[in-house]
Amino acid sequence: PSEEDWIATSLCLYQGFWFPTWLFKGVLACQNHFQAQPSDILLVTKLKSGTTWLKAILFALLNRAKYSDSDSQRRHPLLTQNPHDLVPFLELKLYLEQENPNLTAFESPRLFATHLPYSSLPGSVRDSRCKLVYLCRNPKDMFISLWHFVNKLRPEGKGQTPLPKCLDKFCQGLSPYGPYWDHVLGFHKASLEMPEQVFFLMYEEMKEDPRVHVSRLADFLGCPFSDEELRDGTVDGILRMCSFDNLSSLEVNKSGKLWTGQENKWFFRRGEVGDWVNYLSAELADRIDQVMDEKLHDSGLKFQYK
Ligand code: A3P
Repeated sequence: PSEEDWIATSLCLYQGFWFPTWLFKGVLACQNHFQAQPSDILLVTKLKSGTTWLKAILFALLNRAKYSDSDSQRRHPLLTQNPHDLVPFLELKLYLEQENPNLTAFESPRLFATHLPYSSLPGSVRDSRCKLVYLCRNPKDMFISLWHFVNKLRPEGKGQTPLPKCLDKFCQGLSPYGPYWDHVLGFHKASLEMPEQVFFLMYEEMKEDPRVHVSRLADFLGCPFSDEELRDGTVDGILRMCSFDNLSSLEVNKSGKLWTGQENKWFFRRGEVGDWVNYLSAELADRIDQVMDEKLHDSGLKFQYK
C-alpha cells in the first residue's frame, strides 16, 4: 500500500515500515547487494535525529590521526565538505544511483550511514557483525525538526503543511522510515542483546555531555583516546569542529546543495533540545506522550525533553 504523504512525497509500506517511495529502489538494491565487512561502521538514524552531527563526529573521530597537527587541521575535509558528502547514505547516495556501486575506494574502516530499520538491514550487516551506531532523538523535537524540514520540500507557494495534520500522521506511525517507535525499539533491543555490536545513543545525551559520549564512542569503535589525546585537546578539537556553530557557519554548509537538491543549510536549524515547546500546544504534546507511553512503556526507554 502507499500513502500520499503530508510531506510532498509519498510513502510506501514495506516490511512494516513506511519508506519514501522515491528511494525504494535504493532500499531494495542495498538489501540485495550491500556486502558488509566486519570492520564497517554504520551510523543509523531516523530522519532529523542529528544524523548530520554524528556523521561529522564519526568522520572526525576515525580520521583524527590524519588531521592532528595545525597544518593538516586547516585542510580538514569537514571545513570544505558537507558531512553528507563525506559519509554517504547506503540506500540513498550509493544504491539509488547505482544498483551495485563499487565500494572498494572506501578505506577501512568504511563509514556509511543509513535510515533503514534494524529488521530491514541487509543480511550481511548482521552476519558480518560490523558495528552499528544508532542515534535517536526525543520524538517531540524530532517531529518538529521534521515538520520544518518537510516544509522546505514543499513546492513554492504551497505554504506550511498544517502541524496538527502532520502530528496525526506521525502518531499513526506515518513518517519517513516510521513508525518512529518501531525504529527506535528495534535498535534499542539489538543494543541490549549485542552491546558489542550496537551502540545506542540519544541526541540529548550528546548535547548534555558530548565529551563523555564521544569517548564512549571511540571505545566502542575500537579506537579509544589515548591519555595524551584526552589531555592535548584532541577530543575538544573534534567537538569544536563538529559543533552546530562551527558547521553551520562554514561556507559549504551555508550555500551548498546535496545531489538530491536539498540545501545544506536545511540540515542546520536550531540544534537544541526542547524547541518543541515553541510549536506544540499542551494538547498536541499530550498526544505524542500518550502514543509513546503506549508504545514504549515496556522498553525502559526514557527521553529527555528539555
Ligand atoms: P533542529 O531542526 O531541531 O534544529 P538530521 O541531521 O538527522 O537531519 O537532523 C537535523 C537536526 O540536527 C536539526 O535539528 C539540526 O539543527 C540538528 N543539527 C545539525 N547539526 C548539528 C550539530 N552540529 N549539533 C547539534 N545539532 C545539530
